[in-house]
Order: sequence, then C-alpha cells, then structure tokens
Amino acid sequence: MAKARIQFICQNCGSAHQRWAGKCDSCGEWNTLVEEGTSGGIGSGPGSLKSARKGRPVTLTSLDGDIEDAPRIVSGIGELDRATGGGFVRGSALLIGGDPGIGKSTLLTQAAAALASRGHRVVYVSGEEAVAQIRLRAQRLGVASSPVELAAETNVEDILATIADGKRPDLIIIDSIQTLWTDLADSAPGTVTQVRASSQAMIRYAKSTGAAVVLVGHVTKEGQIAGPRVVEHMVDGVLYFEGEGGHHFRILRTVKNRFGPTDEIGVFEMSDKGLREVANPSELFLGERHAKAPGAAVFAAIEGTRPVLVEIQALVAASTLGTPRRAVVGWDSSRLSMILAVLEAHCGVRFGQHDVYLNVAGGYRISEPAADLAVASALVSSLTGIALPADCVYFGEISLSGAVRPVAHAQQRLKEAEKLGFGRAVLPSGSGELAGGIGAGSFQPTALADLVARIAGSRRSRAEETD
Ligand code: TYD
Ligand code: MG
Repeated sequence: MAKARIQFICQNCGSAHQRWAGKCDSCGEWNTLVEEGTSGGIGSGPGSLKSARKGRPVTLTSLDGDIEDAPRIVSGIGELDRATGGGFVRGSALLIGGDPGIGKSTLLTQAAAALASRGHRVVYVSGEEAVAQIRLRAQRLGVASSPVELAAETNVEDILATIADGKRPDLIIIDSIQTLWTDLADSAPGTVTQVRASSQAMIRYAKSTGAAVVLVGHVTKEGQIAGPRVVEHMVDGVLYFEGEGGHHFRILRTVKNRFGPTDEIGVFEMSDKGLREVANPSELFLGERHAKAPGAAVFAAIEGTRPVLVEIQALVAASTLGTPRRAVVGWDSSRLSMILAVLEAHCGVRFGQHDVYLNVAGGYRISEPAADLAVASALVSSLTGIALPADCVYFGEISLSGAVRPVAHAQQRLKEAEKLGFGRAVLPSGSGELAGGIGAGSFQPTALADLVARIAGSRRSRAEETD
C-alpha cells in the first residue's frame, strides 16, 4: 500500500504544497497552509502515480430517453422557486452560501417544511445545531407539525447509510458542509480536503439516486473561509443569501445555475416568524423615500427577469482635503469615477473641490451600467441643490464620450414605474414607445450634457443663488 503522504493545502484557494510556507504562492494569502494527509485518494492528483488499474467499460447511452418523475421539485415558496429557476432539480446539488446568521437555516427549514407537507420525503441533516434547537426554530416558524425527517449528524458515511433506509428522499439538506467529515480523508472537519471530499460524496449520491441535495455553506464577504469557494465548481447551482446589517430584507441571488437563468433574485423579509416573501421589492426599497431632497434619483433596475425600482442618493459637499473623498455603498466605485470624469469633461460640471458620497438606498446592490443616468442625475442634483422631480424615474448607460446609450428591457422598466405611480421618465432615445401613464414631461437625451442643462435650467433662479 502506498505510504500516506503529507501535503500542505492552502485553506483559501485549495492549492497543494509540498512544504509548509508562511505565504501561499498561488493566492498570496498568509498563514493559510494547513497540513493534511492525503491517503484515500483525495488530493492525490495526477502528481502521485499509482499502478494503473485496468478500466471497466461503462454503458454508453443516447440523448433521447426516459426521464423519471417531474424533473423539478417545486417548494411553493415563490421567491425561492424563482431563484432556483422553477424549483429544486432532481439529481442535482445546490450550494446556498451566505454570512453566518443571515437566515440560511431559517429559509431551508421553511422550504423543507413546505415540501414535506406536500408529500415529499425531506431529510434535514444539521451538523451545527442540536435537534432541540432546530425544533425550537420550527416552532417559532409554525411548521413543527410537518413531517420533515431530522438528524444531527456530521459523518458522511453515517448520513448516507441513514438515508439509504426506506424510500429515497426527494430532498436532502446538509447544514452545513463545513461541519461534514468523511472517513476517506484524514484531515480535520472544516479543512478544504474534508469539505471537498464530503461534498463530492453528497453530490455523487445525488447524481446516482436522483435526489436533490442542498448544501449550506458559510462564507464571508471575501469568501475566505474554507469551503464554499472550492465547492462552487462542483455543484450544479450556487445561490447566495445576502442582506445588509440593520435591514430586514434578504436577497437570494443566483450566481450559477446549470438548469436555469442566473442573475435572478428572490426577495425576503426577516420577521419574527421567519422569512416572508416580498412579491413587490420596489415598494420595499422605495418605502422610506424623501422625495423632495436634492441628490436623490429613482433608478428603474432589472434584476434577472423582473424590474426593481431603487433610490440612488448622492451627496456632493465642499471638501477640505487635498484629494477629495469618494465613497460608494451599493455600486461600483470605479464606475462612479467614470461618471464623474464624463461630467467634468463633457458637461463642465466640476467635482475637483468636492467630496462625493453615493448610496443605494435600502442596502441594495446594483451591478447594471443602466444606473449611470440615475447616478449622474443624483450627482448634479446634489451639487446644484436642485431636487429632481419626485415622479420621475431614470435609466440609461453613459459612454465615455458623454453619449446616452440605450439599455435592454426599457418597456419593462417603464411598466414597473407606471405601476408604482411614476408619471415621467428620463431614458435613452430609441427606447421605443412610452407606455400610457408615462409620457408627458419625459425626456430622452442623446447626450448627458442635455440632461445636465435641463436639471440646471429647471430652477435657474435657485441655482444662481446657491452658486
Ligand atoms: P439562521 O437561519 O440561524 O442563520 P444562518 O443559518 O444563516 O446562520 O438565522 C439566524 C437569524 O435570524 C438570527 O439572528 C435570528 C433571526 N431570526 C428571526 O429574526 N426570525 C425568525 O423567525 C428566525 C427563525 C430567525
Ligand atoms: Mg444555520
């Protein structure tokens, strides 16, 4: 038998080293190398040569063939089903990542209960909490009577032996993969090798039996903790459960999905009785709006397939610093620099002596370039002290030349704005016909300078006062 070989595995990126070092060569992180044994095949990559085994022929098959059951298990929790692309897929593995305490266990307890009461066999395996704690949570959620099968266990072999008993489960929830360990790997639970080997065993089980497996993984903002990052490429789907401290809403974001669209989001609100679905996120994000203040613009965003209205707030204040401060929450800071540069270069708006703060209200995070126009409007509004019209939404991309460029889904954005009582829009020209309620007072600039002139001109007398 081959001698067990010692390797040092980086807990950040998973790369293997022959010798210990203070710094990982691959990812540059310090103090992340941990000694792990590699007997049992895990981690013995192509580098370690064993005597070749003669292959066993497998049966080849055709693309066309019978598929058992309905391929998806619908949970009935609309926002969750939306994020997974229509329900959990049989025979697939899904990773749900998120900060500790964000509500992953709560969400999955609710999903498990919903599925179990519809007659599916659901097994919930918790390695983090005792059975009593999970029961307590279930009571709080009002789902204690649903027939979910519960276990507090961390050994993969024991878990697999347990679920092999009786009817094959439709859904298995493992909370969390950081606590799992398998006899096949020697290292301690929570290390990359263990997480990878245990996940692999669960994924193999899912593929071979057709059960859906959900793995929970804790991850910090930087994704440094051993686990989720190395598992991401092994699973069929990755969802991230996010939320901002101090806000009650949570967003379930699809990052990877082999069986459906990505960039889809599910929106929830954490209440004292668990997570509540938020069917209309715009109302939530616009809830605390103070429309009359300068520096606020409402952006009509698209998240996945649905429109979401959010408020963008800017504060431009005279700076005493040599290098003025630029601070952004909820948006890309290099994108802000770009917008500031375009405003300076093409519109004659100067920010060189000003600190600029930008915030997306409600703790929401925007990744679309379509927010450019709303950001630019908020910045100009704050600088000039002129409040933007309260019933106006903004969207459009700005190019480096100062032109306003069309963005996708203009009609969907307008329809959502109309539904929420907005009467006008500032949008790129060529976005198609304006919907019924939105029209009069709308503006379709081709250049950003036109919009700046319009904002500054809307209350010229006051602008002159503040200058
Ligand atoms: P939890 O699901 O345990 O988080 P995770 O599994 O992601 O670590 O949720 C923990 C938080 O949610 C905790 O701070 C309490 C809060 N919570 C509520 O506000 N209402 C509820 O009904 C429940 C069950 C939890
Ligand atoms: Mg938990």
